[in-house]
Amino acid sequence: MEDHPKGLIEQKPDYLICTCWGVMYSEIVDAIKNGATDFQALQDQLMVGTGCSSCVPEINELLHELTGGGSDERL
Ligand code: FES
Repeated sequence: MEDHPKGLIEQKPDYLICTCWGVMYSEIVDAIKNGATDFQALQDQLMVGTGCSSCVPEINELLHELTGGGSDERL
């Protein structure tokens, strides 16, 4: 078995989170790492959640994981 020292987030394969805007998981992780630490900032940068909104719960969960609970779960 391989032992990856990277965090849980880094190990996940890339996939499409926001199908409305074609936003990949890795783009959201990068945006959060670059300072978009709340949902509004991600929405401003990537348009996520401005279509059908079905990606909102998953993005909030990701924000929670990466920021240690600083996500904005208004929606
Ligand atoms: S999947 Fe993100 S707004 Fe529809």
